[in-house]
Amino acid sequence: MRHFLTLKDFSKAEIMEMIDLAFELKRDQKAGKIRHELANQTLAMIFEKSSTRTRVSFEVGMYQLGGHALFLSSKDIQLGRGEPMKDTARVVSRMVDMVMIRTFSQEGLEEFAKYSKVPVINGLTDLYHPVQLMADLMTLIEHGKDQNPTIAYIGDGNNMTHSWMWLVAKMGWTLNIASPVGYEADDVVQRETLSLAAQTGAKITFFHNPKEAIRDVDVVTTDTWISMGQEEEKAKRVEDFAGFIVDEELMRLAKEDAIFLHCLPAYRGYEVSEAVFEKHADTIFEEAENRLHAQKGIMVYLDRQRS
Ligand code: CP
Ligand code: NVA
Repeated sequence: MRHFLTLKDFSKAEIMEMIDLAFELKRDQKAGKIRHELANQTLAMIFEKSSTRTRVSFEVGMYQLGGHALFLSSKDIQLGRGEPMKDTARVVSRMVDMVMIRTFSQEGLEEFAKYSKVPVINGLTDLYHPVQLMADLMTLIEHGKDQNPTIAYIGDGNNMTHSWMWLVAKMGWTLNIASPVGYEADDVVQRETLSLAAQTGAKITFFHNPKEAIRDVDVVTTDTWISMGQEEEKAKRVEDFAGFIVDEELMRLAKEDAIFLHCLPAYRGYEVSEAVFEKHADTIFEEAENRLHAQKGIMVYLDRQRS
């Protein structure tokens, strides 16, 4: 049995196997072909943070696969009143077939997985957001940007950054990351991804100047400056991220046909300008739709792994 907690745990071949499955399910869905691979199965979705895309895509995905999804907000279940992760895991996993969790610490997620009898999927932690990167990878492929691309991530060294680092390290691509001083990617993730990059030929480079990071890249991406749980730091962060907005002036330095990705939700006037966002809206919302297909691929893959 396998869990999907971080891209670190999957080889390039395994990632591509899930992506191929996701494309197959996407094609079948669009063609109206029913794929009830997970008939009679239940997915528990535990949310300790807000969500639009993750909640809708997992719930609809499970329905399309013939199963059922249970929405469990920590505000309503005993986890939110202090019941330990490991007890929640031992109860819930006796009754459902798969679990998706959105929580704060990666360690908490890993503890849940350790005690779970069924596969666990990371629906976002403070450290990683791997399901998002699977949708982003599908979008890169659909736009022909998967042939050794150079990608610029402009902004906070956060869960999205760390997941991009693992994806790029696995694929052998090039990633330029520009963050303000004090907001760089996690040291451990840097060390581990750079060590893998040395084997796969990937290049991950860190900048403090977004103009240097974005020059001639094929793909530009960013994320909010204020992740969930950091609301109290908003005033300081907005000040510290001055100059990091992805606007038309900055985008002009990327390749002319560069695409722009955003995991959403987007905060116009902060990490991205209204003009850049709207210019690339088609791609951004295809990326959001790909959450549905990517996660169906992941769920079917994890189900096949245990049977
Ligand atoms: N990108 C993403 O995970 O969106 P939600 O927070 O709405 O789920
Ligand atoms: N970095 C953001 C991603 C939201 C999908 C957060 O953690 O809030």
